[in-house]
Amino acid sequence: MPEFDLSVDICGVTWKNPIATASGTFNFRESSRYYRVSDLGCITTKGVSREPWGGNETPKIAETRSGMLNSIGLENRGVEMYIDHDLKPLKEAGATVMANVAGHTIVEYCSVAERLAKTAVDLLEINISCPNVKEGGIAFGTDKTAAAELVTRVKKVSGAKPVIVKLSPNVTDITEIALAVERAGADGLSLINTLKGMRIDLNTGKPVLANGSGGLSGPAIHPVAVWMVYETARVCRIPIIGMGGVMTGADALELMLAGAKAVAVGTAALIDPVAPTRILGELAGLLRK
Ligand code: FUM
Repeated sequence: MPEFDLSVDICGVTWKNPIATASGTFNFRESSRYYRVSDLGCITTKGVSREPWGGNETPKIAETRSGMLNSIGLENRGVEMYIDHDLKPLKEAGATVMANVAGHTIVEYCSVAERLAKTAVDLLEINISCPNVKEGGIAFGTDKTAAAELVTRVKKVSGAKPVIVKLSPNVTDITEIALAVERAGADGLSLINTLKGMRIDLNTGKPVLANGSGGLSGPAIHPVAVWMVYETARVCRIPIIGMGGVMTGADALELMLAGAKAVAVGTAALIDPVAPTRILGELAGLLRK
């Protein structure tokens, strides 16, 4: 772990360092075999909804030449199970935790935010960018009026918990949505979620993923993330958590130079569970240099 102070303030919450896990790519039981989860700046957990969601049919994952497609469909056990079985052990282990919040409707998002406001969770990440569900998710993230309305309503029920809004790259101009949610009271932004994509099986002529399309992540999208963080940081004042294809400390630093205050590691951790701590060490080395 770095021997000098790398702490950052994210919306009033002190992170030990600027490296987080990205939603949906972290498993406590697996990761804690390799590192102390409290060594990272923040652990972002998989999208959680009011009731359990079954997710999409398999296959839900496909490799691509420079990344992967996923179409999980925000499968999760619902907020009550989340509080007891995900949040509690992470807080007991000393982690700073950001809960990724999902819903089909504004009422559903608000129910989860209101429930989590009464827990030890540190930050809420409102997921308006999942490309794999029919209602909610990206439907809010591609419409600035709907996104702003959702944020206004969530802010009313989330108490003192900072509200970070996770943005989609699947838009013409990400700054329009970013500005709309900032004006609606968002405390921070996280970007980018995955880019919508598809692979077709040459033998069947059908999509590889059961859902047809999925979200592309991994190194292929890193330059898109750098560009979108750069553009957003030019117009928004609230802190940005940058993500998208971060495989090395240099990738993380590039996002910070573009304007991110912290960086999340996603797909890299699915290849190698220690990637977040390795990337933290590499970032510290680059900063020292
Ligand atoms: O399908 C999924 O669960 C993906 C979620 C996301 O991209 O936010």
